[in-house]
Order: sequence, then structure tokens, then C-alpha cells
Amino acid sequence: GIALAERLGLPRPAVIAHRGASFDAPESTRAAYLLAREQGADYLELDLQRTADGVLVAVHDDTLGRTSDVAERFPDRVDAPVSAFTLEELKSLDAGSWFNHAFAERARDAFAGLEILTLDEVIDIAEGGVNRPGLYIETKQPGQFPGIERELREKLASRGWLAPRAEGEGAVNVAAMPGRVVLQTFEKASLEALQREMPEVPKILLLWLGDGYIPAADGPAMGEGEDPARYYAAQRVRSPEDYLAWLDWAKAQGAIGVGPSVALAAGGEQSYPDLVQPWMNRAAHQRGLLIHPYTVDDEVDFARVQAGGVDGFFTNRTDALLAFYGRP
Ligand code: G3P
Ligand code: CA
Repeated sequence: GIALAERLGLPRPAVIAHRGASFDAPESTRAAYLLAREQGADYLELDLQRTADGVLVAVHDDTLGRTSDVAERFPDRVDAPVSAFTLEELKSLDAGSWFNHAFAERARDAFAGLEILTLDEVIDIAEGGVNRPGLYIETKQPGQFPGIERELREKLASRGWLAPRAEGEGAVNVAAMPGRVVLQTFEKASLEALQREMPEVPKILLLWLGDGYIPAADGPAMGEGEDPARYYAAQRVRSPEDYLAWLDWAKAQGAIGVGPSVALAAGGEQSYPDLVQPWMNRAAHQRGLLIHPYTVDDEVDFARVQAGGVDGFFTNRTDALLAFYGRP
């Protein structure tokens, strides 16, 4: 938990660049990760998936329609999963122009034609430059990708991001890898697999309301135009015991913390159930678990959630979070 995080030198609070500096540049592209690195993020966050020919890549969505020109390049495969494409096919996509269309006020000519990145390429970015951010890697929809936890371990090890195993299976020299990689997942089975493969690498269990992770909201549906923060604040957790059971399970699995969702005052697409209520934070910290909420971009939300004692944020706006923390 927190003690291990301190031993590993994890930054606290942590500035985790969610898909890179993805407010200002197309998510999970070179431009977004370079910007996050330049701004001084502690971690580059990425969602790990695997191509049809077995290459690990950084893509968030299950499909490519939102963040690429797949509809023009492969019109018959608009709804196909990332795993149905070879690396060469993915590399032929334009993963930047969508951003210029979606966010005209932040558009830049240089974004047109940006590529989907492999994990190797994200590692290259993390290793380059003056700032040396770590990697905060999510196994995304891991049920689609059996064995991806082992492949991730092999890749990180081959790139020198894991210390050589000291003695016996599973033993890793903690002192040699001070918190540069954090692993994260929503999925129980994937956390178990990550723990088996990389027992000494810090891990975070992501928490979401629904699907058995956190008790579903039993209250009324959100009304038209209702403030999401108010709506979710009014929802009852099915039972505190259910929530505490997840914290206990995460801890028993060797997780150093949890990644709870946040209801944003600003609302919007990424406003989720508020799992940073005071009793939740208290329970996590009592168990020695770090709290890294997702995904927060605005001062008003940083302030409210940080006041509850969290240990950093996933953010699309690295610059705004660094300013909030008073870091240059
Ligand atoms: O990984 C933390 C946060 O990124 C989880 O949500 O959907 O953005 O991957 P998502
Ligand atoms: Ca993620």
C-alpha cells in the first residue's frame, strides 16, 4: 500500500497524464505523450490492447471509429475491434485529424496524420527528453487478450523497465525499479494475472459503479439537464460493506491503491459516479491504499476532490494539475 509506494518513491501526489496531454492533443498519440512529458507529468497513462499480429498498442476504445479515419480506410471494419487489425493496418490510419474536427479551437495542422502508437513507442517517449515520466498502464478489456499480462511483463523486462528477477520465479529487485511503472485494471482476473506476473510492480484497482465492481445505484435515473454531481451524490451505495469488500480484495491482491471515478462539477462526458466520498477515502487510507481518482481536468474539481485527501489524479490537462499543485 502506501508504505510500498513510499519505498518505491512513487510521486505523491501523482500527476498521471490520461492518454497523454489529451485535452490539447489527440489522445494516445506522439503529440499527446510528448506534450505531457514536456509539461512534467509523473506518468504517461495508456490503455493496452493487442493487434491481430500480436503487437501491444496504446488504444482506449474497443473500436477505431471515434479516434481515426477507419471509416474511410476500412469501411467494412468500422465496428471491428482493435484486435482485428494488424499493426500495419493500424499504422495506416490517421489518428489525429478527428481531433481537429472535434475540437476546432485546439486544432493544429501537425495533428493530421498522427499514428497509433505501439507500447514500444510510448516507452521510447518516456525514455527520451529531459523529464523521465513513468508509465501507468491499463490492461483494457483484458478478457479479449488472454496472456496480455505475461506479454506486458516480457516487454517491460526486455526494455529494462523491470529489474532482473533476483532469485526464483516472481522475485523482482524492488530497489532497482523505483515506481516507474504502475499497472491498473478494472478487471479482477487481470489484477490477479498482473500480480502473478509482476508481484513487486505497484498495481491499482480501478473502481466503477456497476458490473459488480461497486454496488449499482438504486436510485432514480438522472433527469434531463440534472447536474451529474448532484445526481450521483444523491445515489446510495448498495452497502458500504460491498465497497469495503472491494478495498479488502484489492489489498489482498497486493494492490497499492484504487482508482475511483469522480463526479465532475463541470459535468460532461467523463462525469461518473462519485467514488471519492469521505467515508470511501477514509476506508481506503485506513487500509494503506493510495487513491488516484479519474479523470479530472478543472480547478474546481481538483480542489474539491483533493480536499478529500486523495493521492493524485488522472488528468487530460497535465498543465492544469501541475499548476494546481504549484509545481513548475
Ligand atoms: O485508467 C483510468 C481511467 O483511464 C479509466 O477510464 O475509460 O479512461 O480508461 P478510461
Ligand atoms: Ca485508462
